[in-house]
Amino acid sequence: MTTATAPGKTILVGEHAVVYGRPAIATPVWQVVATATVEAGAPGAGLQLRAPDAGLALRLRDASEQEPLALVVRLALAHLDLAAEPDWDVEIRSEIPIAGGLGSGAAASAALVRALFAHAGRTLSPTALAALVYESERLYHGTPSGIDNTVIAYGQPVWFVRGQPPEPITPHAPFLLLIADSGLPSPTKESVGDVRRGWQAEPARYERRFDAIAELVREARAAIEQGEVANLGRILDRNHALLAALGVSAPPLERLVGAARQAGALGAKLSGGGRGGNVIALVTAASAAPVQAALRAAGAKRLLETTVR
Ligand code: PMV
Repeated sequence: MTTATAPGKTILVGEHAVVYGRPAIATPVWQVVATATVEAGAPGAGLQLRAPDAGLALRLRDASEQEPLALVVRLALAHLDLAAEPDWDVEIRSEIPIAGGLGSGAAASAALVRALFAHAGRTLSPTALAALVYESERLYHGTPSGIDNTVIAYGQPVWFVRGQPPEPITPHAPFLLLIADSGLPSPTKESVGDVRRGWQAEPARYERRFDAIAELVREARAAIEQGEVANLGRILDRNHALLAALGVSAPPLERLVGAARQAGALGAKLSGGGRGGNVIALVTAASAAPVQAALRAAGAKRLLETTVR
C-alpha cells in the first residue's frame, strides 16, 4: 500500500492583489492534512476511487467528467503514461474543512497525485505537482492565481507571483498563528468577481490598493526573514484594512479580527477570498490562550494553531 499526504494552507498576506500580478505569501497548515492511499485491487476491476468523508465511491471508467477527484486521477494517469488503466483501489480522506479557505480541494488533489505517482514507482517535483493540481483547479474555479496549489505542493512558506517560479521563504524564527473559522462559507469565486467589477469601474483606485498591498507583502517578507514579529503584526492589520477597502470583509470577520487584537494579538486579518472563511491572528506563546478565548467568544466555530517555520 502507498500513502501520501498534503497539508492545508493559509494566505498570510497579498490575497486578491495576487490575482493582478502582485506578490503574496502563503504558508502550509500541517495540523490538517489530506491523505491518499493506493493499493492493488481485483484484477480487471480498473481503478476504484473512494472518498468516505464525501460519501463517494466510484469506478473511474464510470465517473462523470464533472467529478473533480476523478478528473485529478485521470490527469495523473495521463502523465504516468501507463499502458492501461491500472487495477488500483484508491482512497482519499481529509481533515481539512471544505470551503473554508484552507485549500481542501487542492490538498486532496495533491495527496492523490502524490500517491498515484508513488504507487507507480515515480516521483515528481513540487513544481510538477503544483502544475498538475493547478490544471484540475482551473477546471473548477475559473482562473485561480495558483497560490493554493503552489504552497500545498511545496509544503513550506512561499513568496508567490503569478506566472513566476515560487520562492520558498525561511522565517528567521518560527512564529505562531491562530486560524479562526467564521463558520460562514467563503465564496472565493464571488469575491474575486466583485473585486474585478470594482477594478473595472475604478481601475486607478483599485490599482493603487493593489500596489499598497504589494508594498505590505514586501515588508512582510523582510519582517519574516528578519524575525520582526511585532512589525509583521502591524503589516497584517494594514493588509486587513486594504482588503476591507476592496469590499471583501464582512461583519463576522470584523468581529473576529477586532476581538483578536483586543485580546493581545500582534495583528489580525481575514485570509483568502473573504466574506466568510477564516481570519488569522499573529500571537506569541503568552497571548495564544487569551486570543483563542476571545476568538471563541466572538463566534469562531473552529480554531487551529499553527507554527510557521
Ligand atoms: O479563498 P482561498 O483561500 O482559496 O484564496 C483565494 C485567494 C485569492 O487571492 C482571493 C484568489 C486567488 O486565486 O489567488
